[in-house]
Amino acid sequence: MDGNGRWAKQQGFLRTIGHENGTKSVRITVEACAKLGIEALTLYAFSTENWNRPKLEVQTLMKLLISSLKKEIKTLQENNIKLNCIGNIDKLPSSAQKQLLEVIEKTKTNSRMTLTLALSYGSREEIVQAVKAISDKVKNNIISTDDIDEVIINQHLYTQNLPDVDLLIRTSGETRISNFLLWQIAYAELYFTDVLWPDFREHHLYEAIADYQKRERRFGKISEQIKL
Ligand code: IPE
Ligand code: MG
Repeated sequence: MDGNGRWAKQQGFLRTIGHENGTKSVRITVEACAKLGIEALTLYAFSTENWNRPKLEVQTLMKLLISSLKKEIKTLQENNIKLNCIGNIDKLPSSAQKQLLEVIEKTKTNSRMTLTLALSYGSREEIVQAVKAISDKVKNNIISTDDIDEVIINQHLYTQNLPDVDLLIRTSGETRISNFLLWQIAYAELYFTDVLWPDFREHHLYEAIADYQKRERRFGKISEQIKL
């Protein structure tokens, strides 16, 4: 979800106004995905690198997270959506952690879609913690080095209960991954759009999905094998 700051600047507003307007796009996208029958939606809301932004902006983003969680619990319940989070959650202010855990707890039996918020998330950091956890298991003879495979690595990532990414959408015209789900996007289809996140609406999502549907996912095979 990129482009909040530029959206605000274009209209002569403070960056924080861009973030506020971005929350509307979040609600629209979450509801649209649930209606489409998408099983898992992961939103990159705040990266490990975003902590380096000006203090006031970080504070505003945290406040917005708390108020959105309070406000949107209703949307989640009405749409049978389960909330999940990935990232180094311990780094979030305690009030945000509390609110987050409360909504996760209240929505834990919802089953239509899993909405994952990536908060204080960095893929490299995720991989580092996985390597440490696996090393500890080897050291304590819980597993042997030979046991380490892709399944074991998956089980130690924050995304252990999520499927691999099928489609990754980045808004605002940037064509980077920026430390997002590096392991999990190995075979994802990437979609970049110039639309700034606060302008993102259902039809933009449908355009991305229609584009995805036209692609042939070969997973290393040849076209004829896929069509069998
Ligand atoms: C995305 O918008 C929101 C977050 C990263 C929290 P940006 O804040 O990155 O907006 P730009 O890139 O400055 O326009
Ligand atoms: Mg940005």
